[in-house]
Amino acid sequence: MSRTRSCTFLTALVMSAALTSPLYAAGETTAPPASTPDAAGAGGDEDAGQVAFNTHCRTCHSLKPDDNRLGPTLHGIHGAKGGQVKGFGNYSGQLTEQITWDDATLDKFLANPSSIASNTTMKPFGGIAEADQRKLIIDYLKAQK
Ligand code: HEC
Repeated sequence: MSRTRSCTFLTALVMSAALTSPLYAAGETTAPPASTPDAAGAGGDEDAGQVAFNTHCRTCHSLKPDDNRLGPTLHGIHGAKGGQVKGFGNYSGQLTEQITWDDATLDKFLANPSSIASNTTMKPFGGIAEADQRKLIIDYLKAQK
């Protein structure tokens, strides 16, 4: 059903990440998360979190301080207020300090960015339907501190 389609989509993303990403290529024989949902669900797998981040986010986001790209740096984003990254000029203006990025708000935003910022500039990222993938990425962001 829809899982088949999403696997194909993920595979294409992973392949393009592998082509354009030296870091990804340097990794060992880490299987794409889409093909190993059980292993990913086992928890505590930092590599799976990194692969998921690289697949879905790294095109636009870095985790290094002050390294803004198409999206703001996500350095220390867990626990931070929305829309406050210094020097980032591509905000929609809808992410404000009323938002604190915790597990719940990040999960909602990553499932569907426009549910939090209706005019979000985080495009064409359309959200991640799989809850386990979102959790892997959120845990990975949390562990960056
Ligand atoms: C196509 C580029 C793009 C992709 C892919 C992308 N983002 Fe973003 N991201 C942005 C932009 C642009 C913004 C600013 C959004 C706004 O102001 O509405 C943003 C904002 C954010 C914010 C809020 C930052 C803040 O300062 O409040 C978080 C958290 C975030 N992204 C996480 C992620 C994660 C995690 C992924 C991968 C699952 C991801 N993004 C994928 C471009 C992207």
